[in-house]
Amino acid sequence: MQISQEKTKRFQEEILTWYNEHQRDLPWRHTRDPYRILISEVMSQQTQISRVVTKYTEWLVRFPTVVVLADAPVSEVLKYWSGLGYNRRALNLKKTAEKIVNEYDGTFPDNERELLKLPGIGPYTARAILCFAFNKQVAVVDTNVRKVILTQIIDRSNVLRLSDSSEKTSLSERDMEEIAQKLLPHGKAYEWNQALMDYSSAVLKKEKMQIPKQSKFIGSHRYYRSKVLRVLLDKKKVNVDKIGELIKKEYTIAEEEWLSKLLNELAKEGFIVIEKNFVRLV
Ligand code: ADE
Repeated sequence: MQISQEKTKRFQEEILTWYNEHQRDLPWRHTRDPYRILISEVMSQQTQISRVVTKYTEWLVRFPTVVVLADAPVSEVLKYWSGLGYNRRALNLKKTAEKIVNEYDGTFPDNERELLKLPGIGPYTARAILCFAFNKQVAVVDTNVRKVILTQIIDRSNVLRLSDSSEKTSLSERDMEEIAQKLLPHGKAYEWNQALMDYSSAVLKKEKMQIPKQSKFIGSHRYYRSKVLRVLLDKKKVNVDKIGELIKKEYTIAEEEWLSKLLNELAKEGFIVIEKNFVRLV
């Protein structure tokens, strides 16, 4: 796989010029605080950016620092997360905050190896923190950036010369990262990575495709898990025998085993506590 230097340069100029004119003024682009960058990135996964802006702002009023988040009750964390989906992410943020406070003296590490040890932080989020908080010259490749690389670079500008056409469809994650790294303009990783994200959502209309389909969500296992948490946020403490009918209109005794499994799962993951016959949030 070869990369044309001249075409790469032209592509970089094109994207950066576009970004200069069209960039979005997003609140996390005014900070280099790794905690704030982390919150913005985790919230942005699977959620429309306009919604993230509101939730991010409210979150930071309630949990302005990693120490405040580490000390906050799970019920508060879930309350401020509500509407963003995938509650496990909120729980992982809290666990990460606790780890940063207890094991890292309240300071985020600035290397990928250590960041990957934190709950819920994978290669994408680790690199986003490295680039957006610590200005490291690393490519940040999410589905949007991957899409730009595939459609705009390989198809359109032919920046890449692939030895045969099947190579494009069989590009591995590692190939993609390698290409993304080679495309970085020297010393401008921050601007470049942010630019690719805006370019992707504006030009490729990616935002729409990112929202999970409601029809698939309703009635799914994840739907009922989330419903249990919502009921507990509202009622604080609920009798185990009552929770079935509170989360499912047509709940029957035959579903007791299913419900008990679901509750045990949530308890094991640290969302809820089951004591005697009652269930409550941690
Ligand atoms: N999606 C994920 N991270 C983003 C960011 N930093 N800016 C815009 N969209 C994003």
